[in-house]
Amino acid sequence: MSDLLVYLNNEYLPLSEAKISVLDRGFLFGDGVYEVIPCYQGKLFRLDDHLQRLAASLAQIRLEFSLSSEEWREILKPLLDISIDQAVYLQITRGVYASRDHAFPCEIQPTVFCMANPIKPFSGLQSGVKALTMDDSRWEMCHVKATTLLANVLMRQEAVEQGCAEAILIKNGFVTEGAASNLFAVIDDCLLTPKKTAELLPGITRQVIIDLAKADSWCVKEDVISQSALENASEIWLTSSTREIIPAVELDGKSVGDGTPGPFWHKMNTLFQQYKQTV
Ligand code: PDD
Repeated sequence: MSDLLVYLNNEYLPLSEAKISVLDRGFLFGDGVYEVIPCYQGKLFRLDDHLQRLAASLAQIRLEFSLSSEEWREILKPLLDISIDQAVYLQITRGVYASRDHAFPCEIQPTVFCMANPIKPFSGLQSGVKALTMDDSRWEMCHVKATTLLANVLMRQEAVEQGCAEAILIKNGFVTEGAASNLFAVIDDCLLTPKKTAELLPGITRQVIIDLAKADSWCVKEDVISQSALENASEIWLTSSTREIIPAVELDGKSVGDGTPGPFWHKMNTLFQQYKQTV
């Protein structure tokens, strides 16, 4: 096991020594929330947006825990390495209670865990990836970044076993998002992404892309995308903090556009890489 330094409940220790109780509700029920924050050469990317989403997730699951942005920075500082890009993982569970019970007691201490792993450049970034559509079988609180990810795990695994990088989830004939990403489509030269509802995670990368496209005077719409509209899109992108903006060049075995990353993707990827340097 790696000797990565991690943070667990007010302590810094090697990953191999970080232990939690088997009665932790995160372990027993997936009763917790998390964030993944990119950190470029020691600089946390859009930290306040991630912390706002964390606060919203905590409120949704009725877990009372709050730290200021400065307090989070202090906690994370020893984990950061200014010589590399990292993905900071931060998880808060409802903590340990004396017995297993679905209903939660009010007085328990949350478990707080943080680690930072190197981000390796995603191999499909330049060439594009294959994606597979699947029925979105998840619950109705997908806007909460909950650690309870079994449906997402099974859908990503199914996609990977079929040689694809991501599963694109369809609910009642409309796209929601990827198993661990948001989705954009270029349709009639306009950039579309599903609007924010409880059916998808409000991705931070998604918002950065919308802001960059608007600032560059693109046609951008947050709207519904039907599966048939997706099938006719000239470009499809999958976006997340760890993979950034991945062009999907094949959908369910058929080429997207001409089967290579399209001109809108090239332009947005350049804008995104430039923006990263400025923060
Ligand atoms: N997941 N939708 C889902 C279901 C996700 O899990 C993620 C990211 C996103 C993109 O959100 P953001 O741009 O804020 O990373 C959308 C992270 C990376 C993960 O679970 O590892």
